[in-house]
Amino acid sequence: MAKIILTGDRPTGRLHIGHYVGSLKRRVELQNSGEFDKIYIMIADAQALTDNAKNPGKVRQNIIEVALDYLAAGLDPEKCTIFIQSQVPQLTELTFYYMNLVTVQRLQRNPTVKNEIKLRGFKEGEAEDQEEEGIPVGFFTYPISQASDITAFKATTVPVGEDQLPMIEQTREIVRRFNNSYGEVLVEPVAVIPDNEVCKRLPGTDGSAKMSKSLGNCIYLADSAEELKNKVMKMYTDPNHIQITDPGSLEGNAVFTYLDAFAKDEHFAKFLPEYENLDAMKKHYTTGGLGDVKCKKFLLAVLESELGPIRERRLELEKHLPEIYEMLRKGSEEAARVADATLNEVKSAMKINYFVDNALENEVSGQ
Ligand code: TRP
Repeated sequence: MAKIILTGDRPTGRLHIGHYVGSLKRRVELQNSGEFDKIYIMIADAQALTDNAKNPGKVRQNIIEVALDYLAAGLDPEKCTIFIQSQVPQLTELTFYYMNLVTVQRLQRNPTVKNEIKLRGFKEGEAEDQEEEGIPVGFFTYPISQASDITAFKATTVPVGEDQLPMIEQTREIVRRFNNSYGEVLVEPVAVIPDNEVCKRLPGTDGSAKMSKSLGNCIYLADSAEELKNKVMKMYTDPNHIQITDPGSLEGNAVFTYLDAFAKDEHFAKFLPEYENLDAMKKHYTTGGLGDVKCKKFLLAVLESELGPIRERRLELEKHLPEIYEMLRKGSEEAARVADATLNEVKSAMKINYFVDNALENEVSGQ
């Protein structure tokens, strides 16, 4: 069976280093491994609209930002098809059929949906003013649309952040139900998540659990060297580590969490040779005698060595926006062709292909 990747992101903002270590970096590695027959990377604008109905401008504007981040991080349009979700209407059609295979109760139990309902402050139960406060139907059903995104391309592999695991599980259930009811058409995908624990959920620069635009605690791939420096030098460490000689704590210390995610032994040899590796540095920090500023400067050097080349590529790419739009247009056309083939198989399996080869007419006259 062909090995196919599909994954994507909502264009609600520029991508940050949480996205990068959580999924984007892995995608680039998988792309360059040459092990996959096809790779589809989707900018999920339709999904972004499920909780941004009143904000289409934001979604529109961020399509190009996300595309720039992708290319700057190393996704290569020669090796993968990058496309825009809303430009592939077949996905919406698939969603409508899959909706019959999922119960309201099952969606209500989806942990990611549950969590996002809380985060977005959508009221459950009978809200006074449904339009303002309730859960948008489109938002509630987005796991089903995500199953369409994945199955339309017969994806076998979905590299995502850990928070997306319930979506992949839901997709697998839909595939099983579909295939049981209508015959083997769809492919059950597996998720690929980071193996490094800290990369699964990189905290914000302020130490809070998640990097998020609304909390203003993100480091973006597009940040300038100056912005990166300011953010790193202001990062949250251990509030009780006042004197250099005090023993410092690693628990909840964002600087060390980022080092866990980014620092390699080579970085020590290059930027901080007095320690052999991160363990040695941590040991010194926790026994006392290593100051926060020194740790931050090292982290800055490590981040700069990884993000500097991405930033430079991004600045260069920004000079070529028409070509990037053209790449997205072509990618969307190709994606639509592939999704259309799957949709046709789905409709045949469901026996709603009435006008293909005069199917209906032949049945009638054959009676
Ligand atoms: N839900 C993903 C996110 O919030 C975006 C997404 C939409 C996606 N469809 C997908 C990811 C299909 C993987 C596969 O970032």
